[in-house]
Amino acid sequence: MYINSVNIEGFRNYGLQNVELSPGINVFYGNNAQGKTNFLEAVYICAMGKSFKFLKEKNLINFGSEFARVSVDYISDGMERTNSVLIKPDSKQIKVNETVIKKRLDLIGRLNVILFTPQELSIIKDGPAVRRKFIDLCAGQLRKKYLFALSQYNKVLAQKSKLLKDGYDSSLYVWNEQLAEYGSTIMWYRASLINKIKEMIEPIYNEITEKNEKLGIAYIKSIDFKDDFDQFRIKQHYMYHIQNISDREKEERVCLIGPHRDDIMFYINGKNAREFASQGQQRSIVLSLKLVEAELFKEQTGEYPVMLLDDIASELDIERRKFLFSKIKDKQVIITCTDGDKLNIEGKASYFYVENGKISCGNGS
Ligand SMILES: Nc1ncnc2c1ncn2[C@@H]1O[C@H](COP(=O)(O)OP(=O)(O)OP(=O)(O)O)[C@@H](O)[C@H]1O
Ligand SMILES: [Mg+2]
Repeated sequence: MYINSVNIEGFRNYGLQNVELSPGINVFYGNNAQGKTNFLEAVYICAMGKSFKFLKEKNLINFGSEFARVSVDYISDGMERTNSVLIKPDSKQIKVNETVIKKRLDLIGRLNVILFTPQELSIIKDGPAVRRKFIDLCAGQLRKKYLFALSQYNKVLAQKSKLLKDGYDSSLYVWNEQLAEYGSTIMWYRASLINKIKEMIEPIYNEITEKNEKLGIAYIKSIDFKDDFDQFRIKQHYMYHIQNISDREKEERVCLIGPHRDDIMFYINGKNAREFASQGQQRSIVLSLKLVEAELFKEQTGEYPVMLLDDIASELDIERRKFLFSKIKDKQVIITCTDGDKLNIEGKASYFYVENGKISCGNGS
């Protein structure tokens, strides 16, 4: 799939802006604070229905504007579609073509994007919540059922957590039953996805590090089950454990087991990457993960997603940068940087110059 054009009105530091993209590599360059990341954010919102930054959505509206509107025209499955998002200070409306999409979840999976920003190194460095978010984003775009299970799980979890916190003391069976239902769906898919990632990432990471390092990945399940368990057995297992831990949960007044307590571990040559990986190694792991994600999308949907790369090439050394471009040349890429020349892209690319919320055709210098 690829995006033909992006239309922006009153979003962040942009007024009215229309950009026609090429199906290949699109480089957005310019000085700091000119609107490069804002442009990626506009595209991302049209794909995912919300920003990749934690914020109040009204902050997306240009300081001098009453609303923000962003839309993208894209080709998916050979058909042209338009996703648009209208943001007002206290409301948001999402549309696909002319149809209003009531639930954000129903937007996901139509225009698939993979975002890679320098902040993404937190996948390796930070706490488990970031890794769960990574796997949820990937799984959610790939599988609607996962997204549904996750949103239901979170609702039930919030209800049960509140009851525990308030010291509710009778049976929590109904909640546990539901948690086991949705939780086992989540954990089953996480396990199969992580296994797949594990298989696919090895050769990519090998290539980046010229076979000097071995990357391992492990799914740290909060409820242990074997790889060959089907969803039904995972649910039984889940019920057993959640009932067993019930007294402790009441005592500690928190939900102690379930996918909200899962983690993913990365190892380089057998050592925990979170504790030992250098910045460069962390970058290589995340880069490999993103490339694997793109392959997974291709395998599942038949099409590559659109790659959104914010300011990452400048942080890669020349060999890794070359490797990156060799791997993304058959995909649509929107990449930002401060200096288009420095990317050393071999072959064709379209350049756009960003200055003070205005985008014009550029020559890459
Ligand atoms: N709601 C808004 N209205 C107007 N301007 C805004 C709004 N939100 C952010 N900005 C402005 O957008 C600019 C930042 O844009 P952006 O983050 O896209 O920069 P960038 O080109 O990616 O820079 P860098 O190279 O430093 O990453 C800042 O000047 C900021 O003040
Ligand atoms: Mg930026």
